[in-house]
Amino acid sequence: MKERLQNIKDEALKAIEAADMPEKLNDVRVKFLGKKGELTAVLKGMKDVAPEDRPKVGQMVNETRAAIEAVLEENKEKMEKAIRAEKLKKEVIDVTLPAKKNCVGHRHPNTIALEEVERVFTGMGYEVVEGPEIEYDEYNFRKLNIPDGHPAKDEQDTFYINKNIVLRTQTSPVQARIMEQGKLPICILSPGRVFRSDEVDATHSPSFHQIEGLIIDKNISFADLKGTLEVFAKELFGEDTKTKFRPHHFPFTEPSAEMDVSCFKCGGKGCRFCKGSGWIEILGCGMVHPHVLEMCGIDPEEYTGFAFGVGLERIALLKYEIDDMRLLYENDIRFLKQF
Ligand code: DAH
Repeated sequence: MKERLQNIKDEALKAIEAADMPEKLNDVRVKFLGKKGELTAVLKGMKDVAPEDRPKVGQMVNETRAAIEAVLEENKEKMEKAIRAEKLKKEVIDVTLPAKKNCVGHRHPNTIALEEVERVFTGMGYEVVEGPEIEYDEYNFRKLNIPDGHPAKDEQDTFYINKNIVLRTQTSPVQARIMEQGKLPICILSPGRVFRSDEVDATHSPSFHQIEGLIIDKNISFADLKGTLEVFAKELFGEDTKTKFRPHHFPFTEPSAEMDVSCFKCGGKGCRFCKGSGWIEILGCGMVHPHVLEMCGIDPEEYTGFAFGVGLERIALLKYEIDDMRLLYENDIRFLKQF
């Protein structure tokens, strides 16, 4: 019996030695120690052993089992360790390799300029709202005091979808849309894309952007307009910026003006940038025309307000000293990367 157990043990150890992967070690375990394994077969044969020898044989079987198990366990651990080491070696990361460049995009100069303008006005309590780019002739013109046949309609070369629908030529129709809703007071900023059938050149594009502002309340005066737009100019172009309001004409405001800012390049002395005048034209503005208020259901005896319209591209071009508007639309990465 002793010899048989010794044989089993030798054979098991040989099999363990030969096993080159964990699955094979498991086969060895099943073959020798499993329910139908060889060692179990010995135990099952105990009934043929003389009763007085049984404890001794039992002990020998247990010792053999323990010995095989110990070697099995030891080899299993060794094998797993080797596998882990191999895996780590394969997966090793060379931290000295140059990393793949993570190309994060960034904002377009138009967007940067718009966010700057929005920051200034939301800081003064304005709410940003948007209007449709495809607009009724009614809102784009008539409700802004530009009836059919009015010369201003020809000045803004319009893309017509049909007789009554246009690609908006200005963001001003948002004024009419908001006033019509009847919620007063109004204090809004409305940026967006506008369209005019213009030829492309350094200062024109058939599609560009405007930012409209509108405030309607009791006792709003031209002084409020001047104060507000002066703050805006200083925030955008620097504390030393001066403003100048020149009389102008817009059908939907009365009185109307254009605002110039002192040239932030030469401080007003006159340079190439401001074409020698010391001033740069920035926006159109005025007190909302009483007739416009009336057409939008607001009593001009009770409420007054002012409005303004800024060309976004103009701000971006000035701020970044870009001399050709086409650069903003060509999507040349080498250009856009600089902002
Ligand atoms: N909509 C005008 C334009 O496209 C700009 C403008 C001027 C807007 C005066 C206004 C304003 O709100 O009061 O030329």
